[in-house]
Amino acid sequence: MEKRQRWPSRMIFIFAAIGSAVGLGNIWRFPYLAGKYGGGAFLIPYLIMLFLLGVPLLIMEFAIGQRMQVGAVGSFRKIKRKLAGIGLGSVLCGFIVVSYYAVIMGWCLIYLIYSFTLKWGADTKSFFFDNVIHLSKDVGEVGFISVEIIFALVIVWALIYFSVWKGIKSVSKVVLVTMPLPIILFFILLIRGITLPGAIDGIIFYLKPNFGALLDFEVWSAAMSQIFFTLSLAFGIMIAYASYQHESSDISKSAIITALVNSGISIIAGFCVFSTLGYMASRSGVPVSELAASGPSLAFIVFPKALSLIPFASVFAVLFFVMLITLGIDSAFSLVEAASTVIHDRYSHIRKEDVSLYVCVFGFICGIIFATFAGLYYLDITDHFITNYGLVLVGLLEVLAIGWLYGANKLRNYVNHVSEIKIGKWWNTLIKFIIPVFLIVLLIANFIRDIKHPYEGYPQWAIFCFGWGLIIGVLLLSCLSVFFSRQKNNV
Ligand code: PHE
Repeated sequence: MEKRQRWPSRMIFIFAAIGSAVGLGNIWRFPYLAGKYGGGAFLIPYLIMLFLLGVPLLIMEFAIGQRMQVGAVGSFRKIKRKLAGIGLGSVLCGFIVVSYYAVIMGWCLIYLIYSFTLKWGADTKSFFFDNVIHLSKDVGEVGFISVEIIFALVIVWALIYFSVWKGIKSVSKVVLVTMPLPIILFFILLIRGITLPGAIDGIIFYLKPNFGALLDFEVWSAAMSQIFFTLSLAFGIMIAYASYQHESSDISKSAIITALVNSGISIIAGFCVFSTLGYMASRSGVPVSELAASGPSLAFIVFPKALSLIPFASVFAVLFFVMLITLGIDSAFSLVEAASTVIHDRYSHIRKEDVSLYVCVFGFICGIIFATFAGLYYLDITDHFITNYGLVLVGLLEVLAIGWLYGANKLRNYVNHVSEIKIGKWWNTLIKFIIPVFLIVLLIANFIRDIKHPYEGYPQWAIFCFGWGLIIGVLLLSCLSVFFSRQKNNV
């Protein structure tokens, strides 16, 4: 049996975990949520969820991978053969995410090229929708495949492939650049942002607390989902990464560092985004509340416009898109590594290089649908359903499996045995009772909301194909895999 690959040091492991956690979500999701859900007051549910849900779950995933020394499928299989489906579910969700995440990175690459000449001009909205993604009028109008996006997608997948092709050996070299570089660029953009005239109005909008918002359940559920997504939990990533650590490495300190750095960057990102929006508001007369946007609209419509108002605009535009690409790439390849770890655990006779290649080629093919003229609609629906159901469901099954079948206390003893910072009995209570209850409530609330109003008013067939259908598909595949692997030996 081949010896398991190892991280060269604990620091590199933490770099890789932070690299996965810090992604587009920190820049384009967190600041928007804070601005929308109570400003500075949003930090209260966010930090409560971080410590109640995020850190304990991260400790759990690190501990599972490090204890079992295999990826997500093998780890759950070691606990009980039938639980292997939980691991498969997490990896499948991750695989779906990376197939569209890579398309978004492709858009970033196209915008990077355009940054040199600020090609988007004054009407950044129609430039993005008409000239870049060629968005069709209706979700049913698939149209054609955009050639530039496919071209960019090939480059993105090549970058992903060369980052993971030798597994941890290559990942450990790449994260030395992709983790710190975007953070450095981010600080340059932050300093530029907060020194712009009008920045303060944006910052006031971002932080002005509205404690009344805390009475709204939606604010708490938004904080909960954000913590899940931002820490890359329930995708099998942290389990796979931790499985390349020595069994005796410290766990709790690594988890706390990863979680704190990630959230710190999110909070600081708010200053960067909103100071720039404050400047734009002062120049254009449009209030910050109307400029605030999340997701692709922020990165490809609002920000390009704001950046083009700044002196030396193209320099800052280039820095911005290089930052987005380097931020996203290590999140993207962490998803690929989670999948190829699982495949390599099972079929260890196939060379790691080949496994990585198959996963990347398959990911590229699955992503083509998101490069069609209706791609943005599909991406939007898929993202909503995977993050609101797929992940929460996998997370719930993970805590139930650990809490009730493996034994929360057994895993906690292991963590305490190897870690400097000891965790108390409260952790068992969180894993066995509190977190499952939170996740069940979140699932039910999401379900009621989506049944009452179809997500974003999309037609039922689209919601089914790219939403419920995918979730059901993941569930079925996970269950069937357990059924058919009955006769095979444990991994
Ligand atoms: N954590 C990343 C972010 O905040 C997103 C991500 C989720 C990346 C899951 C990989 C896997 O952007």
